[in-house]
Amino acid sequence: MKHFLNTQDWTRPELDALLAQAAAFKRSKIGDQLRGKSIALVFFNPSLRTRTSFELGAFQLGGHAVVLAPGKDAWPIEFELGTVMDGDTEEHISEVAKVLSRYVDLIAVRAFPKFQDWSVDRQDKVLKGFAKHATVPVINLETITHPCQELAHIMALQQRFGTDLRGKKYVLTWTYHPKALNTAVANSALTIATRFGMDVTLLCPTPDYVLDSRYMDFGAANVAENGGSLTVSHDIASAYSGADVVYAKSWGALPYFGNWDQEKPIRDQFKHFIVDEAKMALTNNGVFSHCLPLRRNIKATDAVMDSPACIAIDEAENRLHVQKAIMAALVAAN
Ligand code: CP
Repeated sequence: MKHFLNTQDWTRPELDALLAQAAAFKRSKIGDQLRGKSIALVFFNPSLRTRTSFELGAFQLGGHAVVLAPGKDAWPIEFELGTVMDGDTEEHISEVAKVLSRYVDLIAVRAFPKFQDWSVDRQDKVLKGFAKHATVPVINLETITHPCQELAHIMALQQRFGTDLRGKKYVLTWTYHPKALNTAVANSALTIATRFGMDVTLLCPTPDYVLDSRYMDFGAANVAENGGSLTVSHDIASAYSGADVVYAKSWGALPYFGNWDQEKPIRDQFKHFIVDEAKMALTNNGVFSHCLPLRRNIKATDAVMDSPACIAIDEAENRLHVQKAIMAALVAAN
């Protein structure tokens, strides 16, 4: 069964084909690739872009989307195997995934970490539970990675620079946020930027903010396969110097995972990581993007967000196009 759980599971030619199809959908948005087909969108967490773009994308290709929020408008789901279900959960993923598979042609899942124990969250049990028990393809709507965002991001960069992104200087910068956030988009940005052969700098305040070794290893393997480079920097000026792309995201430091009270005074020292005009002036007339939602004047200033360099809205639009390509490809392949 072909799923879309991580871009690393897809070959470069497959990803390139998705991006080409996405560009075709941008030129001509209505199709019949999902005629008579349906998708269950299972949201354990809030969304604006993901929900809207998937629902509309399915509609524009002749399909239908059903949105479910377990624990709110659907029964709470148990994911542990062999457990005695005498707590709050009402049904097991084994039945949930199999039943949905009898109704729909695709299942898509958003399930953020619980933010208590990274050794547990990094197992991605919710997404893997759906993939294990479903008999239809499963799409990751953001768990500990955000592969749909990755493709939308690359599409936006290709719209600005052309399809060959090799040799572009790419800065993935940590930014301050009052809360400790998911590492998913950062994991994904590092993965896809190295996959497309860019010279990637992970800029973060201290070594504690380096990403999980799984994604650092993906980056190193991608560099070995595709060229480019991957470096970690804690120096803002040198990281921004000559950059073609600045991608911003905030995330919680993994060594403090679940102990956020201890991390907060550390994180509070680094509010100056905000993306502002002075930093962007160090770049090679570079572009700026972010997955959104973004707290203005916390992660990036109004001036940066409202500048011609900002391609965050293009990237958000591209969610629609790339996800239509993903849905169409999975339905065709299965
Ligand atoms: N970027 C993104 O996934 O946005 P939402 O959380 O609004 O879906």
